[in-house]
Amino acid sequence: MKTVKKISLALLAILIAIQFFRPEKNLAHGNHTEIFLAETNPAPELRIVLEETCYDCHSNNTVYPWYNNVAPISFWLANHVKDGKKHLNFSAWDDYSVKKKDHKLEEVIEMIENDEMPLKEYTWTHENARLTNEQRESIIAWAKKTRLLYQLNEIPQ
Ligand code: HEC
Repeated sequence: MKTVKKISLALLAILIAIQFFRPEKNLAHGNHTEIFLAETNPAPELRIVLEETCYDCHSNNTVYPWYNNVAPISFWLANHVKDGKKHLNFSAWDDYSVKKKDHKLEEVIEMIENDEMPLKEYTWTHENARLTNEQRESIIAWAKKTRLLYQLNEIPQ
């Protein structure tokens, strides 16, 4: 029992100590996805869907939940954002070649069709990010159309 108590106290001390460490936040000001929106032109309702369900992990601006103030959750979330942005960042659309944009949209279609995005652990806590079938279809239709326009070179860079 004594050892258990010691270990518990040590763990508690660690938990308190790590509260003093905070990962850097992913925050942007202004129209950080302006180029992405201008080129891919999603309808106003779809813009809101993308913003509310993808931007937290795939743009330079995350809207953090209150529990991000608690370590180690903050580190876990920061990791997700970093990983998500590495794969796809709507705020860095300008840095992608036309071929890459087309490919990223292809992956968006795949992810939505297979119901892999938004991540499950995100939709557990973000009810409004659970996509309806209609929202899913509108993302896929928009991505398909935009891919075609990129492939036909119809989108001015
Ligand atoms: C909670 C964070 C989170 C949210 C929200 C989220 N994603 Fe992701 N996404 C990730 C992570 C992490 C990866 C990379 C690892 C993986 O594939 O699971 C990823 C990968 C992807 C990829 C693959 C890119 C590649 O290069 O392989 C696509 C496409 C994608 N997400 C699209 C979306 C779309 C579209 C939405 C909104 C409907 C969305 N994601 C919402 C975290 C997220």
